[in-house]
Amino acid sequence: MNMTEDGTVFDVAGPPDAPVVVLVHGLGLNRACWQWTLPALSDRYRVVTYDLFGHGQSAPPPETPSLSMFSRQLTGLLDHLDTPAAAIVGFSLGGMIARRVAQDAPQRISALAILHSPHRRSTKAQGAILQRVEQAKRDGPAATVDAALERWFTDGFRADNTEMMDLVRSWVTANPIEIYYKNYKVLADGIDEIVNPVPPLSCPALVITGDEDYGNGPEMSQAIAAEIAGSELHILKGLRHMALAEAPDQINAPLRGFLDRVVAAPPVMTDEDKRALRNAFGTFATGVTVVTTRQPDGTPRGFTANSFTSVSLDPPLVLVCIAKSAHSCDVFASAPHFAVNVLGEAQKAVSGLFASRAADKFELADWHSGHADMPVLDGSLGRFVCARHSVVDAGDHLVLIGRVEEYGVTDSQPLGYFRGSYFSIGLEDPLVDVASAGGTIAIGAVMERDQKVLLKRHGDGTYGVPMAAEDRNSLDGLVAGLKASGLNARLDYLYAVYRDSETAHHGIYYHGTVSGDPPSDMAYFALEDIPLDRIQSRAQRSMLARYREEFRHGSFGIYQGDESTGMVHQVAARQPSKH
Ligand SMILES: Cc1cc2nc3c(=O)[nH]c(=O)nc-3n(C[C@H](O)[C@H](O)[C@H](O)COP(=O)(O)O)c2cc1C
Repeated sequence: MNMTEDGTVFDVAGPPDAPVVVLVHGLGLNRACWQWTLPALSDRYRVVTYDLFGHGQSAPPPETPSLSMFSRQLTGLLDHLDTPAAAIVGFSLGGMIARRVAQDAPQRISALAILHSPHRRSTKAQGAILQRVEQAKRDGPAATVDAALERWFTDGFRADNTEMMDLVRSWVTANPIEIYYKNYKVLADGIDEIVNPVPPLSCPALVITGDEDYGNGPEMSQAIAAEIAGSELHILKGLRHMALAEAPDQINAPLRGFLDRVVAAPPVMTDEDKRALRNAFGTFATGVTVVTTRQPDGTPRGFTANSFTSVSLDPPLVLVCIAKSAHSCDVFASAPHFAVNVLGEAQKAVSGLFASRAADKFELADWHSGHADMPVLDGSLGRFVCARHSVVDAGDHLVLIGRVEEYGVTDSQPLGYFRGSYFSIGLEDPLVDVASAGGTIAIGAVMERDQKVLLKRHGDGTYGVPMAAEDRNSLDGLVAGLKASGLNARLDYLYAVYRDSETAHHGIYYHGTVSGDPPSDMAYFALEDIPLDRIQSRAQRSMLARYREEFRHGSFGIYQGDESTGMVHQVAARQPSKH
């Protein structure tokens, strides 16, 4: 028997690496009620069934039962199974729990199927269910079970399937009298907290009920579907509450079709596909921000983001995307406020710090509390303190949309990000100078191999980066010169433009990669071994010092980061990347 630490008993079926689908049963039942559904899913999905607290073999409720308690039970089960997100199929009370989880932890849900579940009841229907709760409290589950079977199965089916009726009756009557009515009360009272969710639920959703399901009829399912944009609605003809047992195919076919479309269908991207796409996204030059918030106990949290976008002026809205794999994703998904700090060109180290997974990011940064107690980074170019407007589930990211409540700007230069590297807009002016300057323009390159830099030794023992020869002073000339020395060189991007104030000469420096054994007057230097004091040109000295620094910042995350996402590693390796 599988059991979590909190006493939740569960079963798992289906291929180990398949997308996870969790089935949540209804009041008074247990995980065995999915026996008619399971065979339709378990060839393609990793199907998890479990007993709600106080039902079947699971432990009694650890506190007074509520939708939040059941929601925590489900996310705890996902944690136990190391499952970041799953499709949740909830029947009746299970459909209410699924909607509660979709509000509490939207990032844990890839799709929702809500079967025969209630929406707001009429006063009369609400009165009737409260009466049944009282009856269950007084007389236990046996008192209400026969009336329940009439609501759950059509008359003819009940008469012809007495064995199944006995089975379902045995499930219900097994509920302990002192617990059953408390769980029943959740079914009766929980509605208010899940109707009209704010922000609205946004994951793919399927809603099904029977047109004779009197307590959870078509108008209720319509109301549920109307609250979830893009949801699908199926009304089954001539069926009551437990269609999943009476006519399994009628539930299984639309359910399987839905899951195949929204959970299993998206083509699986290989790592190579993802890298190529990330590189393509990286051609869009952006600024860099650090998004901050506080978790409920007040601890500041933050991550570097270049996915920031202004959205609307009236109302004032902005968005930023956070990866579901980010440590702080859960905190941001439910935070009532967050702040976007736009970084200036001097804040490369801050970007590296907040792109890391270090636990003490805020101990290493200068910041203060701003509007709504949000952490605001000192020295930023701009800040937008936002109240949460909505959270949209989008593939492997969540889109956080915020309504700007307070903002401020300063007058400094921005930090830019393009193809996995930082850049400064400030480059433009020297470029214009160089283009218009008469006299000599030297062309050279910072050539890298395996995090080492190629330097040339001059006759006097000083060093410099490889330069194009005077008689072939061009990028092609630079590459050809290296080739003549037995090196294969490839230039990738403009790295620096300098005016050497000592010589009044201008220099244009590219970045590139190189391979091959260097000739006797050249050598590769590890970044920490670059002999800065023996670099002849002052401009080159400052450029190489900056290069070394950037590598440090870029590689900040490599030791602490999650390499599987490839993101932080890519920054370090100076490869183009999305982020
Ligand atoms: C320039 C840059 C931009 C980034 N943009 C984003 C982004 O928009 N969304 C995101 O989720 N991660 C982005 N990242 C990666 C996160 O900052 C990184 O995964 C960080 O570890 C998240 O922090 P956390 O795991 O503590 O939540 C970016 C990283 C860099 C260097």
